[in-house]
Amino acid sequence: MNIVDIINKKRLKEELTKEELEYAINGYIDNSIKDYQMSSLLMAICLNGMSDDEIYYLTDIMLKSGDTVDLSFINKVKVDKHSTGGVGDKTSLILLPLVAACGVVAPKMSGRGLGFTGGTIDKLEAIPGFKSDLSVDEFKREIEEIGVSDISQSENLVPADKKLYSLRDVTGTVESLPLIASSIMSKKLASGADKIVIDLKVGDGALIKNIDDARRLASIMINIGKKYNKEVRCILTDMNQPLGNMIGNSLEVKEAIDVLKGNGPKDITDLVIVLASTMVQMGLNISLEEANKLVLDKLNDGSAFNKFLDLVRYQGGNLEDMVISDKVISVKSNKTGFVSKIKTNELGEVVRKLGGGRYEKEDSIDPSVGIELVVKQGDYVLEDEELLKVYMNEKDVPLSEILDCFIISNESGESNPLIYEIICS
Ligand code: URA
Repeated sequence: MNIVDIINKKRLKEELTKEELEYAINGYIDNSIKDYQMSSLLMAICLNGMSDDEIYYLTDIMLKSGDTVDLSFINKVKVDKHSTGGVGDKTSLILLPLVAACGVVAPKMSGRGLGFTGGTIDKLEAIPGFKSDLSVDEFKREIEEIGVSDISQSENLVPADKKLYSLRDVTGTVESLPLIASSIMSKKLASGADKIVIDLKVGDGALIKNIDDARRLASIMINIGKKYNKEVRCILTDMNQPLGNMIGNSLEVKEAIDVLKGNGPKDITDLVIVLASTMVQMGLNISLEEANKLVLDKLNDGSAFNKFLDLVRYQGGNLEDMVISDKVISVKSNKTGFVSKIKTNELGEVVRKLGGGRYEKEDSIDPSVGIELVVKQGDYVLEDEELLKVYMNEKDVPLSEILDCFIISNESGESNPLIYEIICS
C-alpha cells in the first residue's frame, strides 16, 4: 500500500477501505507517514467527505489506537456528556454533580481549552489544589465512592486523536463533519460510559455554524453509537452569544456555583436543566417529566451543590483560595441602541489575550482574569451605560477591541431559541 495512492483516491472522491484507513492512521502514529502527507489526506477528506462506512472505520481505528476504560464493574447505567465547545460554557461543572445527586453515575474525562473556547479542566483547575490528572484506578474509585468524577483525558486515551487534532488545528481541517464525529465519538467510546449526551453547539461562537450541519453531525454520531450499542442523544443548542454572563476560568466556577445555589443566569440554568433531565431519563430509565422533577428537586434542595463540594474536595480543590482579579475595569457603551450582536468568538479571543486561554499547548493560564457581561443580546443600552466588566491582571487588551465585540444599533437583532431540538437514536 502507498499513502500517495490513498490520498489520490480520496482526492478523486473514491471510498477508502478499512485497510487503507488503517494504513494511513497507524502509519501517521508511528511516524512513517509524515505531517505533510496526512495534511493532504485530511484536506481531501474535508473537501470530499466520507461514507458512513469510512467514518465508522476511522472511528474504530482511532478508538483502538490507545487505552479504553472499562467501567462495567459499576452495576448501573453510566451516562457521559460532551459539549462541542463554546464561549462561557461551564455546563459540565453544574451538570455532573446535579445528575449524580439524582443517582446517575457520571464519569467524565474532559479536555482543555481549544482556540477561543475554554475547557472544563482549565475551569476546574482554577480551583487551587484541584487535581485533574487522576489515574484510571483513582477515577474508578471516585466514581464508586461519590458517583461522579471529572478528570483530564489520560495521555494514552485515543492518542490518534491527539496527534490528528493538533495537525487539523494548524491545517484548516477542523471543520469537517466526518473528522469531528470520529474525533468526538472515539474519545467518548474509549471513556467507558453506556450512554452519551452531546450538547451540540450551533452558531457564530461554535464550530458548527448552521442547523443543517448540526443535524448531519448529530445523525453521524448517533449512527456511530449504534454500531457500539451505545445510545447517543444530541441536543442542538444556541451559541450565538456567550452562555451565562461570565467568561474566564475562576469567574465561570463562580457562576457555576451561583447556578447550583439557584442564583444563576436564566440561560445557563435552563440549559443545564434540559441536559440534566435528558441524562437522568437515560440513566434511570424514567420518563422525561419524572426526570425533570427530580432534577429541579435536587437543584432546589441543595443536594446538587453539596455533590459539587464533594467532587471538589475529593479531587483536592479548595474553593476558598480561588482568586478572581480585583483589577476590574468597567466598559461602557459609546452609543445608545439595542445590543444587536455580541461577537462571541471575538469576546472569547479577548479573554484568551487577557491570559485566560492558551496559544501554545505549554502556555500557562491566568485563571483570575475574564469578562462579566452586564448586557446580553437584545438589551437596550444608553450611551455611557455599562456593557461589561473586564477582570484583568498582567495582560492588557485595547478598549476599542473590546467595544468592537458589540454591535449597537436600532435593530434588536436575531433572537434565537436556547434549545433548537433534541435528536435521539
Ligand atoms: N471536539 C472534538 O473533540 N473534536 C473535534 O474534532 C471537534 C470538537
